[in-house]
Amino acid sequence: MTLSQLSSPRPFQHPRPGAALACGRVSLETLAKRHGTPLYVYSADQIVERLGLFQQAFQGRESLVCYAVKANSALAILKLLAGRGAGFDIVSGGELERVLSAAPEAANRVVYSGVGKTAPEIDLALRSGILAFNVESEAELELLAARAAKLKRKARFSLRVNPDVFADTHPYISTGLREHKFGIDIRRAPALYRAAANSRWLQAYGVSVHIGSQIRSAEPFAAAVQRVIRLVSLLRREGIALASIDAGGGLGIDYHAGSFDAAAKVAEYAAALERALGAFEGRLLIEPGRFLVAQAGALVARVLQVKRNGKKTFVITDAGMNDLIRPALYQAHHEIVPVRPRAGKPRIVDVVGPVCESGDFFARDRKLPPLEPGDLIALLDAGAYGMAQASNYNTRLRPAEVLVEGNSSRLIRRRETMADLLAPEQTV
Ligand code: LLP
Repeated sequence: MTLSQLSSPRPFQHPRPGAALACGRVSLETLAKRHGTPLYVYSADQIVERLGLFQQAFQGRESLVCYAVKANSALAILKLLAGRGAGFDIVSGGELERVLSAAPEAANRVVYSGVGKTAPEIDLALRSGILAFNVESEAELELLAARAAKLKRKARFSLRVNPDVFADTHPYISTGLREHKFGIDIRRAPALYRAAANSRWLQAYGVSVHIGSQIRSAEPFAAAVQRVIRLVSLLRREGIALASIDAGGGLGIDYHAGSFDAAAKVAEYAAALERALGAFEGRLLIEPGRFLVAQAGALVARVLQVKRNGKKTFVITDAGMNDLIRPALYQAHHEIVPVRPRAGKPRIVDVVGPVCESGDFFARDRKLPPLEPGDLIALLDAGAYGMAQASNYNTRLRPAEVLVEGNSSRLIRRRETMADLLAPEQTV
């Protein structure tokens, strides 16, 4: 990887004017030919680099970066991150099974969040010896104590508190206000820690907080941690010492074109957290998802048709909202780049998929270089919540995934087949 690529927010660049868009040194044209489209392509180098930014930023204290598996749960990516010392933030038994399958040695670096854990899921996590449960309600704490007693395994837990902090992001991905379903009212937390102190099977490990996702400013993170610190100090005066603070995930990226300095962003975030943590000497956990993987990934699609309806021009691609739902669900912006740009005047177009929904669009009224049927395009910043939220709607097969590492690329998930899709069903 060259220096200019390292400092660029994205690993997808045209190596020379007129050459095909490449991921690192691997041409997307070659990958599309080999593996077909739609195709997710990820840069391992960038994922590792982003993890390193967080690890270095918190070098001054004991810390653990717990990658939020939900952002992209590909086994090969979990393995890559585990090998570089990452822990994991999971929200289901299924995500735990993925970690156990990709990197069983990382089980003791797993924190388990989520508002609806079932008894079998809790049992699996207890047996696997995870680091801690981020408990989201009083009832869950009771269930955890009961399962721990039954299995005779002590359960380490952090209460996930709701700090009532506003974070400016899309309402669907904001979580830190009292009106949201997440966490325990921070004012109720001391009583729960006191009660847990008397339980033989519960061990209070820390406090956790997560205020939302795609948050661009460091301020709300600092505000949430400040409130957590007040809670930790109060408990300490009562003789309840908590070993860790989990500051959650949520640091946002820039989905638009232009310069984005990931290193500076992480430095700003770390400085804000450090300021808020003050003299706290325990361990810091963070749960970034998007920041690690979003810009490392692109969805490569082929143009099927270019169609004019009255004043509008529609570029119809072989990828659809089932492959990447973010534009339809959150009105999210993804940059679109022709893999081999044609000369000619840019046109204002809608880029849409083949799914039978008007919400099946990737871009509306977007100025793009001319596109013709057969051309390849790359939807950028699709590494997070892309494949992870893909579905089989319209009985469409989910895309294949490729991981690029240096000069080489490998298929990390083959394209689904009709046989995969029909396997669980029966007609009688
Ligand atoms: N920790 C917890 C407890 C979370 O709920 C989440 C994300 C994360 C960490 C990671 O957040 P990140 O660093 O990725 O922002 N599908 C949406 C995002 C949903 C986020 C849900 N929770 C999207 O595509 O924008």
